[in-house]
Amino acid sequence: MKMLVKLGELFDASRLIPIDSAHVSGVSYKTLGEAPTDFLTALANANEKVVVEATLNPQSLDPKHLAKRLPTNLVERQRKLNTIFDKLGFLKSFTCTPYYIKEPRSGAHLAWAESSAVVYANSVLKAWTNREGGPSALAAAIIGKTPDCGIHRIENRKPKAIAEVEATLEDETEYGALGIFLGKILEDKIPLIKGLRNPSLENLKQLGAALASAGMANMFHYEESAVTEGKLEKITVETKHIKETLEELTTATTQKPDLIFVGCPHCSLQEIKEIANTIRNRKVKSNIEFWICTSRKIKEKAKAYVSKIEASGAKILTDTCAIVTWTDKLGIKTIMTNSAKTSHYAPTLNKAETILAPLKECLKTALKQ
Ligand code: F3S
Repeated sequence: MKMLVKLGELFDASRLIPIDSAHVSGVSYKTLGEAPTDFLTALANANEKVVVEATLNPQSLDPKHLAKRLPTNLVERQRKLNTIFDKLGFLKSFTCTPYYIKEPRSGAHLAWAESSAVVYANSVLKAWTNREGGPSALAAAIIGKTPDCGIHRIENRKPKAIAEVEATLEDETEYGALGIFLGKILEDKIPLIKGLRNPSLENLKQLGAALASAGMANMFHYEESAVTEGKLEKITVETKHIKETLEELTTATTQKPDLIFVGCPHCSLQEIKEIANTIRNRKVKSNIEFWICTSRKIKEKAKAYVSKIEASGAKILTDTCAIVTWTDKLGIKTIMTNSAKTSHYAPTLNKAETILAPLKECLKTALKQ
Protein backbone atom coordinates (compact mmCIF):
# COMPACT_ATOMS: atom_id res chain seq x y z
CA MET A 1 0.00 0.00 0.00
CA LYS A 2 2.89 2.36 0.79
CA MET A 3 4.35 1.72 -2.68
CA LEU A 4 1.05 2.46 -4.42
CA VAL A 5 0.41 5.61 -2.37
CA LYS A 6 3.93 6.87 -3.05
CA LEU A 7 3.48 6.27 -6.78
CA GLY A 8 0.13 8.04 -6.70
CA GLU A 9 1.69 11.04 -4.95
CA LEU A 10 4.46 11.21 -7.55
CA PHE A 11 1.93 11.33 -10.39
CA ASP A 12 -0.70 13.55 -8.69
CA ALA A 13 -3.33 10.88 -8.18
CA SER A 14 -6.01 11.84 -5.65
CA ARG A 15 -7.15 8.27 -5.01
CA LEU A 16 -6.65 4.58 -5.70
CA ILE A 17 -9.10 2.88 -8.06
CA PRO A 18 -10.14 -0.80 -8.19
CA ILE A 19 -8.66 -2.96 -10.95
CA ASP A 20 -10.03 -6.03 -12.75
CA SER A 21 -6.65 -7.72 -13.16
CA ALA A 22 -2.89 -7.38 -12.73
CA HIS A 23 -0.10 -8.72 -14.91
CA VAL A 24 3.42 -8.92 -13.53
CA SER A 25 6.59 -8.76 -15.62
CA GLY A 26 10.13 -9.53 -14.49
CA VAL A 27 9.33 -13.22 -13.99
CA SER A 28 12.27 -14.66 -15.92
CA TYR A 29 15.30 -15.27 -13.72
CA LYS A 30 17.41 -14.07 -16.65
CA THR A 31 15.95 -10.56 -16.48
CA LEU A 32 15.08 -10.47 -12.74
CA GLY A 33 18.26 -11.84 -11.16
CA GLU A 34 18.71 -12.70 -7.49
CA ALA A 35 18.02 -9.37 -5.76
CA PRO A 36 14.17 -9.36 -5.64
CA THR A 37 13.88 -12.99 -4.49
CA ASP A 38 14.16 -12.04 -0.79
CA PHE A 39 11.41 -9.44 -1.15
CA LEU A 40 9.10 -11.92 -2.91
CA THR A 41 9.89 -14.63 -0.34
CA ALA A 42 9.09 -12.24 2.52
CA LEU A 43 5.72 -11.40 0.94
CA ALA A 44 4.88 -15.08 0.45
CA ASN A 45 5.99 -15.97 4.01
CA ALA A 46 3.71 -13.22 5.35
CA ASN A 47 0.87 -15.10 3.60
CA GLU A 48 0.15 -12.25 1.22
CA LYS A 49 -2.13 -13.27 -1.66
CA VAL A 50 -3.31 -11.58 -4.82
CA VAL A 51 -6.93 -10.41 -4.60
CA VAL A 52 -7.66 -9.99 -8.33
CA GLU A 53 -6.94 -12.19 -11.33
CA ALA A 54 -3.17 -11.96 -11.59
CA THR A 55 -1.07 -13.33 -14.43
CA LEU A 56 2.68 -13.75 -15.00
CA ASN A 57 4.90 -12.78 -17.91
CA PRO A 58 7.12 -15.45 -19.54
CA GLN A 59 9.78 -17.19 -17.44
CA SER A 60 13.21 -18.27 -18.67
CA LEU A 61 12.42 -21.85 -19.65
CA ASP A 62 9.99 -24.11 -21.39
CA PRO A 63 9.43 -27.23 -19.29
CA LYS A 64 9.38 -29.59 -22.29
CA HIS A 65 12.07 -28.34 -24.65
CA LEU A 66 14.52 -26.11 -22.76
CA ALA A 67 14.72 -27.17 -19.09
CA LYS A 68 17.09 -30.06 -19.84
CA ARG A 69 19.37 -27.98 -22.07
CA LEU A 70 20.04 -25.10 -19.67
CA PRO A 71 22.46 -25.09 -16.70
CA THR A 72 20.89 -26.80 -13.65
CA ASN A 73 21.61 -23.91 -11.27
CA LEU A 74 19.66 -21.47 -13.49
CA VAL A 75 16.74 -23.88 -13.90
CA GLU A 76 16.59 -24.36 -10.12
CA ARG A 77 16.61 -20.62 -9.45
CA GLN A 78 13.76 -20.10 -11.93
CA ARG A 79 11.76 -22.91 -10.33
CA LYS A 80 12.27 -21.36 -6.89
CA LEU A 81 10.87 -18.07 -8.17
CA ASN A 82 7.89 -19.87 -9.72
CA THR A 83 7.12 -21.52 -6.37
CA ILE A 84 7.02 -18.10 -4.69
CA PHE A 85 4.68 -16.65 -7.35
CA ASP A 86 2.49 -19.75 -6.96
CA LYS A 87 2.30 -19.22 -3.18
CA LEU A 88 1.29 -15.59 -3.77
CA GLY A 89 -1.68 -16.85 -5.82
CA PHE A 90 -0.61 -15.95 -9.37
CA LEU A 91 -1.96 -17.97 -12.32
CA LYS A 92 0.85 -19.94 -13.96
CA SER A 93 0.16 -18.14 -17.24
CA PHE A 94 3.80 -17.32 -18.19
CA THR A 95 2.73 -15.33 -21.22
CA CYS A 96 3.02 -11.79 -22.58
CA THR A 97 -0.44 -12.13 -24.16
CA PRO A 98 -2.66 -12.43 -21.05
CA TYR A 99 -5.50 -11.05 -23.21
CA TYR A 100 -5.67 -14.43 -25.02
CA ILE A 101 -6.32 -16.10 -21.64
CA LYS A 102 -9.03 -13.72 -20.58
CA GLU A 103 -9.84 -10.68 -22.66
CA PRO A 104 -10.33 -7.60 -20.46
CA ARG A 105 -13.62 -5.80 -20.98
CA SER A 106 -13.61 -2.43 -22.70
CA GLY A 107 -13.27 0.33 -20.07
CA ALA A 108 -11.84 -1.98 -17.38
CA HIS A 109 -9.01 -0.57 -15.25
CA LEU A 110 -5.98 -2.88 -15.10
CA ALA A 111 -2.46 -2.82 -13.67
CA TRP A 112 -0.37 -4.53 -16.34
CA ALA A 113 3.39 -4.49 -16.62
CA GLU A 114 4.24 -6.01 -19.99
CA SER A 115 4.65 -3.12 -22.41
CA SER A 116 3.33 -4.96 -25.50
CA ALA A 117 0.26 -6.14 -23.58
CA VAL A 118 -0.30 -2.64 -22.17
CA VAL A 119 -0.39 -1.08 -25.66
CA TYR A 120 -2.65 -3.86 -27.01
CA ALA A 121 -5.04 -3.59 -24.04
CA ASN A 122 -5.34 0.21 -24.30
CA SER A 123 -5.38 0.57 -28.07
CA VAL A 124 -7.16 -2.52 -29.42
CA LEU A 125 -9.24 -3.79 -26.47
CA LYS A 126 -9.99 -0.31 -25.08
CA ALA A 127 -9.14 -1.29 -21.52
CA TRP A 128 -7.27 1.24 -19.34
CA THR A 129 -3.82 0.55 -17.94
CA ASN A 130 -0.60 2.42 -17.31
CA ARG A 131 2.68 0.70 -18.11
CA GLU A 132 3.40 -0.63 -14.64
CA GLY A 133 6.76 -1.76 -13.41
CA GLY A 134 6.98 -5.32 -12.06
CA PRO A 135 6.88 -4.17 -8.38
CA SER A 136 3.91 -1.78 -8.81
CA ALA A 137 1.91 -4.45 -10.69
CA LEU A 138 2.72 -6.88 -7.86
CA ALA A 139 1.54 -4.37 -5.25
CA ALA A 140 -1.63 -3.70 -7.27
CA ALA A 141 -2.33 -7.45 -7.50
CA ILE A 142 -2.14 -7.78 -3.70
CA ILE A 143 -4.13 -4.62 -2.89
CA GLY A 144 -6.53 -4.85 -5.87
CA LYS A 145 -6.11 -1.16 -6.69
CA THR A 146 -3.89 1.23 -8.63
CA PRO A 147 -3.32 5.00 -8.47
CA ASP A 148 -5.81 7.02 -10.54
CA CYS A 149 -3.26 8.73 -12.76
CA GLY A 150 -1.67 8.56 -16.23
CA ILE A 151 -3.95 6.97 -18.80
CA HIS A 152 -6.47 5.85 -16.20
CA ARG A 153 -7.69 9.42 -16.69
CA ILE A 154 -9.54 10.26 -19.89
CA GLU A 155 -7.81 13.61 -20.39
CA ASN A 156 -4.46 11.81 -20.68
CA ARG A 157 -5.63 9.37 -23.39
CA LYS A 158 -6.01 11.95 -26.15
CA PRO A 159 -3.67 11.89 -29.18
CA LYS A 160 -0.70 14.24 -28.88
CA ALA A 161 0.58 13.65 -32.44
CA ILE A 162 -0.75 12.51 -35.81
CA ALA A 163 1.14 9.94 -37.88
CA GLU A 164 0.05 9.89 -41.54
CA VAL A 165 1.10 6.54 -42.96
CA GLU A 166 1.61 6.96 -46.68
CA ALA A 167 3.47 3.65 -47.00
CA THR A 168 1.42 0.55 -47.80
CA LEU A 169 2.23 -2.00 -45.10
CA GLU A 170 2.45 -5.48 -46.62
CA ASP A 171 3.03 -7.79 -43.64
CA GLU A 172 3.59 -8.04 -39.89
CA THR A 173 7.27 -7.04 -40.03
CA GLU A 174 6.32 -3.79 -41.76
CA TYR A 175 3.77 -3.06 -39.02
CA GLY A 176 6.57 -3.76 -36.52
CA ALA A 177 8.93 -1.44 -38.41
CA LEU A 178 6.26 1.28 -38.26
CA GLY A 179 6.12 0.81 -34.47
CA ILE A 180 9.90 1.11 -34.08
CA PHE A 181 10.04 4.16 -36.39
CA LEU A 182 7.24 5.97 -34.53
CA GLY A 183 8.42 4.89 -31.07
CA LYS A 184 11.77 6.61 -31.56
CA ILE A 185 10.18 9.88 -32.69
CA LEU A 186 7.20 10.01 -30.35
CA GLU A 187 8.91 9.00 -27.07
CA ASP A 188 5.88 9.04 -24.70
CA LYS A 189 3.38 10.92 -26.92
CA ILE A 190 0.19 9.04 -27.82
CA PRO A 191 -0.28 9.06 -31.62
CA LEU A 192 -3.32 8.91 -33.84
CA ILE A 193 -2.06 6.68 -36.67
CA LYS A 194 -3.90 7.42 -39.90
CA GLY A 195 -3.72 5.40 -43.11
CA LEU A 196 -3.66 1.83 -41.75
CA ARG A 197 -5.71 -0.24 -44.19
CA ASN A 198 -7.77 -2.90 -42.41
CA PRO A 199 -4.96 -4.12 -40.14
CA SER A 200 -5.42 -7.59 -38.65
CA LEU A 201 -5.36 -7.94 -34.86
CA GLU A 202 -2.00 -9.70 -35.19
CA ASN A 203 -0.56 -6.79 -37.17
CA LEU A 204 -1.77 -4.34 -34.53
CA LYS A 205 -0.12 -6.57 -31.91
CA GLN A 206 3.22 -6.28 -33.78
CA LEU A 207 2.82 -2.52 -34.17
CA GLY A 208 2.11 -1.99 -30.47
CA ALA A 209 4.90 -4.29 -29.25
CA ALA A 210 7.43 -2.45 -31.41
CA LEU A 211 6.10 1.01 -30.50
CA ALA A 212 6.56 0.21 -26.80
CA SER A 213 10.07 -1.20 -27.39
CA ALA A 214 11.46 1.88 -29.09
CA GLY A 215 9.53 4.49 -27.09
CA MET A 216 7.36 5.03 -24.01
CA ALA A 217 3.92 5.56 -25.60
CA ASN A 218 1.41 3.32 -23.83
CA MET A 219 -1.25 3.39 -26.50
CA PHE A 220 -2.12 4.51 -30.02
CA HIS A 221 -5.34 5.46 -31.75
CA TYR A 222 -6.00 4.15 -35.24
CA GLU A 223 -9.66 4.88 -35.92
CA GLU A 224 -10.02 7.99 -38.06
CA SER A 225 -12.86 9.01 -35.73
CA ALA A 226 -10.52 9.52 -32.73
CA VAL A 227 -11.05 12.95 -31.20
CA THR A 228 -8.15 15.38 -31.59
CA GLU A 229 -7.79 18.82 -30.04
CA GLY A 230 -5.67 21.78 -31.06
CA LYS A 231 -2.77 21.73 -33.45
CA LEU A 232 -0.87 18.46 -33.15
CA GLU A 233 2.65 17.50 -34.24
CA LYS A 234 2.42 15.70 -37.60
CA ILE A 235 4.66 12.85 -38.73
CA THR A 236 4.55 11.53 -42.29
CA VAL A 237 5.60 7.92 -42.75
CA GLU A 238 6.83 7.14 -46.24
CA THR A 239 7.84 3.82 -47.80
CA LYS A 240 11.52 4.77 -47.44
CA HIS A 241 11.13 5.15 -43.64
CA ILE A 242 9.73 1.61 -43.36
CA LYS A 243 12.44 0.24 -45.64
CA GLU A 244 15.25 1.94 -43.70
CA THR A 245 13.86 0.75 -40.37
CA LEU A 246 13.60 -2.84 -41.66
CA GLU A 247 17.21 -2.67 -42.81
CA GLU A 248 18.38 -1.38 -39.41
CA LEU A 249 16.59 -4.24 -37.66
CA THR A 250 18.58 -6.87 -39.59
CA THR A 251 22.09 -6.90 -38.14
CA ALA A 252 23.30 -10.26 -39.49
CA THR A 253 25.47 -10.46 -42.57
CA THR A 254 24.63 -14.15 -43.07
CA GLN A 255 21.29 -15.49 -44.27
CA LYS A 256 21.85 -18.70 -42.25
CA PRO A 257 20.21 -18.43 -38.82
CA ASP A 258 20.81 -20.93 -35.98
CA LEU A 259 17.33 -20.24 -34.68
CA ILE A 260 14.09 -19.18 -36.32
CA PHE A 261 11.78 -17.71 -33.69
CA VAL A 262 8.17 -16.67 -34.14
CA GLY A 263 5.79 -15.80 -31.33
CA CYS A 264 6.91 -12.40 -30.08
CA PRO A 265 4.46 -11.43 -28.64
CA HIS A 266 3.21 -14.99 -28.00
CA CYS A 267 1.25 -16.51 -30.89
CA SER A 268 -2.52 -16.40 -31.13
CA LEU A 269 -4.55 -19.46 -32.13
CA GLN A 270 -4.93 -17.91 -35.57
CA GLU A 271 -1.16 -17.60 -36.03
CA ILE A 272 -0.58 -21.23 -34.98
CA LYS A 273 -3.27 -22.35 -37.43
CA GLU A 274 -1.62 -20.36 -40.24
CA ILE A 275 1.80 -21.89 -39.45
CA ALA A 276 0.38 -25.44 -39.40
CA ASN A 277 -1.41 -24.90 -42.70
CA THR A 278 1.73 -23.54 -44.37
CA ILE A 279 4.00 -26.31 -43.07
CA ARG A 280 1.67 -29.06 -44.36
CA ASN A 281 3.81 -32.25 -44.43
CA ARG A 282 7.19 -30.58 -44.80
CA LYS A 283 10.13 -31.00 -42.39
CA VAL A 284 12.43 -28.50 -40.71
CA LYS A 285 16.01 -28.51 -42.02
CA SER A 286 18.38 -30.49 -39.81
CA ASN A 287 20.80 -27.62 -39.07
CA ILE A 288 18.14 -25.12 -37.90
CA GLU A 289 16.08 -24.82 -34.71
CA PHE A 290 12.56 -23.52 -35.21
CA TRP A 291 10.71 -22.22 -32.14
CA ILE A 292 7.09 -21.11 -32.07
CA CYS A 293 6.32 -19.51 -28.71
CA THR A 294 2.87 -19.26 -27.18
CA SER A 295 1.04 -19.69 -23.88
CA ARG A 296 0.01 -23.01 -22.30
CA LYS A 297 -3.61 -22.03 -22.82
CA ILE A 298 -3.25 -21.42 -26.59
CA LYS A 299 -1.12 -24.56 -27.02
CA GLU A 300 -3.88 -26.57 -25.36
CA LYS A 301 -6.55 -24.96 -27.57
CA ALA A 302 -4.43 -25.55 -30.69
CA LYS A 303 -3.87 -29.29 -30.06
CA ALA A 304 -4.75 -30.42 -33.58
CA TYR A 305 -2.31 -27.94 -35.14
CA VAL A 306 0.40 -28.55 -32.53
CA SER A 307 0.83 -32.22 -33.46
CA LYS A 308 1.02 -31.29 -37.14
CA ILE A 309 3.65 -28.59 -36.46
CA GLU A 310 5.75 -30.73 -34.10
CA ALA A 311 5.78 -33.59 -36.66
CA SER A 312 7.80 -31.24 -38.87
CA GLY A 313 10.55 -30.92 -36.26
CA ALA A 314 9.52 -27.40 -35.20
CA LYS A 315 9.08 -26.91 -31.44
CA ILE A 316 6.10 -25.21 -29.85
CA LEU A 317 7.48 -23.66 -26.70
CA THR A 318 5.26 -22.42 -23.88
CA ASP A 319 6.07 -20.18 -20.90
CA THR A 320 9.08 -18.46 -22.47
CA CYS A 321 10.55 -16.76 -25.53
CA ALA A 322 13.94 -16.29 -27.19
CA ILE A 323 14.52 -12.95 -25.46
CA VAL A 324 13.89 -14.03 -21.86
CA THR A 325 15.83 -17.30 -22.07
CA TRP A 326 19.59 -17.79 -22.44
CA THR A 327 19.89 -18.44 -26.21
CA ASP A 328 23.65 -17.72 -25.96
CA LYS A 329 24.04 -20.70 -23.61
CA LEU A 330 22.38 -22.85 -26.29
CA GLY A 331 25.02 -21.78 -28.84
CA ILE A 332 22.62 -19.56 -30.81
CA LYS A 333 24.41 -16.70 -32.55
CA THR A 334 21.95 -15.66 -35.28
CA ILE A 335 18.18 -15.38 -34.82
CA MET A 336 15.72 -14.99 -37.67
CA THR A 337 12.35 -13.63 -36.57
CA ASN A 338 9.22 -11.93 -37.85
CA SER A 339 9.11 -9.71 -34.75
CA ALA A 340 10.53 -6.19 -34.85
CA LYS A 341 10.55 -6.22 -31.03
CA THR A 342 12.82 -9.27 -30.95
CA SER A 343 15.06 -7.78 -33.63
CA HIS A 344 15.29 -4.59 -31.57
CA TYR A 345 16.31 -6.37 -28.35
CA ALA A 346 18.22 -9.52 -29.37
CA PRO A 347 21.55 -7.85 -30.21
CA THR A 348 21.84 -6.53 -26.64
CA LEU A 349 19.82 -9.00 -24.55
CA ASN A 350 20.88 -12.19 -26.39
CA LYS A 351 24.21 -11.11 -27.87
CA ALA A 352 22.81 -12.41 -31.17
CA GLU A 353 22.71 -11.12 -34.73
CA THR A 354 19.22 -10.75 -36.20
CA ILE A 355 17.43 -11.30 -39.49
CA LEU A 356 13.99 -9.67 -39.59
CA ALA A 357 11.67 -11.27 -42.15
CA PRO A 358 7.93 -11.96 -42.45
CA LEU A 359 6.51 -15.31 -41.37
CA LYS A 360 6.37 -16.64 -44.93
CA GLU A 361 10.13 -16.00 -45.32
CA CYS A 362 10.87 -17.53 -41.90
CA LEU A 363 8.97 -20.67 -42.92
CA LYS A 364 10.72 -20.82 -46.28
CA THR A 365 14.11 -20.66 -44.55
CA ALA A 366 13.15 -23.21 -41.88
CA LEU A 367 11.63 -25.90 -44.09
CA LYS A 368 12.99 -28.35 -46.62
CA GLN A 369 11.23 -27.61 -49.91
FE1 F3S B 1 6.74 -11.63 -25.21
FE2 F3S B 1 9.25 -12.28 -25.15
FE3 F3S B 1 8.34 -10.76 -27.05
S1 F3S B 1 8.01 -11.73 -23.41
S2 F3S B 1 6.65 -9.62 -26.17
S3 F3S B 1 7.75 -12.90 -26.68
S4 F3S B 1 10.23 -10.45 -25.97
